[in-house]
Amino acid sequence: MKKVTLITGVTGQDGAYLSKFLLNQGYEVHGLLRRSASADVVDARLKWLGINGKIKLHDGNLTDLSGLIRVMQEVRPAEVYNLAAQSFVKSSWQQPLLTGQVTGVGAANMLEAVRIACPEARFYQASSSEMFGLIQEPVQSETTPFYPRSPYAAAKLYAHWMTVNYRESFHMHASSGILFNHESPLRGIEFVTRKITDGVARIKLGLEKTLALGNLDAKRDWGHARDYVKAMWLMLQQDKPDDYVIATGRTASVREFCQLAFGHVGLKMEDHVVVDERFLRPAEVDVLLGNPAKAKQKLGWAPETSLEDLVGEMVEADLQRLRGQEHL
Ligand code: NAP
Ligand code: GDD
Repeated sequence: MKKVTLITGVTGQDGAYLSKFLLNQGYEVHGLLRRSASADVVDARLKWLGINGKIKLHDGNLTDLSGLIRVMQEVRPAEVYNLAAQSFVKSSWQQPLLTGQVTGVGAANMLEAVRIACPEARFYQASSSEMFGLIQEPVQSETTPFYPRSPYAAAKLYAHWMTVNYRESFHMHASSGILFNHESPLRGIEFVTRKITDGVARIKLGLEKTLALGNLDAKRDWGHARDYVKAMWLMLQQDKPDDYVIATGRTASVREFCQLAFGHVGLKMEDHVVVDERFLRPAEVDVLLGNPAKAKQKLGWAPETSLEDLVGEMVEADLQRLRGQEHL
């Protein structure tokens, strides 16, 4: 019998990589799909990985509890991965309440749906290093206090503590992965890494001359999404649920990311990058740097992709896309 899993956010970056990973592990993969008027492109990431058609998709939305319960009753998953969210930090200042409803209360809806319809299922919550915000320790681990700096981070913090609360109150196998930034060729174009690699590819191909960015001094601990989804799965294979920081242990600035990306195609960022204050944020998270020691020790997990390799893979994918004019 195949193990059955349900992934929310299946059309996003992590949902696509996790689906591929779980299909390779022999799982029957189900995904929650919110209705869109652009149904022809919503599965672009699954197509990119060659797995569209291999996942059973169910209509649903994180804000609709009765629909979620119905999907749980139908699918009866052994493992549930809650990856769906309004995940773009900058938008969370424009849409704070929607972000709270989807990213925060949406996770509580998922916990309720599992508790009501399939309480034995193991549950993964996509928590975030953004919760550390105004960092209280130079290197962040599972014991570092949180200090959220955006409506998104505040919503994630609520979802995180609800996951801990359901674990402690109802003895659910609910784990929370505090993942630091992870990127890939499937990253949304609005996030800084993909914006940079797409911009570099456009400039290299003569389609653009400049790339406008915001705060070049912000630092992030960037890993590869393909490596990070494996950590999600490992958390649900443990006897006991727990919380884990997933990170590389290296931090780099947006400026350094740019230098690597432009350097990959033999260009200099100084010749092309302009700073545009439209891309600054009302409150910034200046630096994030994670300590993944617990994940290493208890899960046997370690990142496999260097920052240099990640940047190279992303730039190459964007060059390929632009040459073929593929959508994504
Ligand atoms: P993503 O690419 O933005 O994907 C978000 C997914 O959520 C999409 O499939 C989206 O569907 C879905 N979604 C949004 N609102 C929904 C709703 N109301 N109901 C149902 N589905 C909804 O995000 P990601 O980078 O894969 O990240 C996955 C999760 O990890 C997110 O929760 C994110 O906040 C969290 N996280 C990400 C990182 C990172 O660096 N990537 C780090 C820490 C935590 P559509 O395709 O229809 O838009
Ligand atoms: N998006 C964007 N666009 N960010 C820029 C730009 C720009 O033009 N210029 C500079 N930045 C800076 C931002 O100010 C921020 O400090 C940093 O680049 C990273 O921004 P994003 O790539 O948008 O990611 P994020 O760190 O805010 O959030 C991502 O990581 C979180 C984990 O720490 C998202 O994936 C979240 O969903 C995730 O939880």
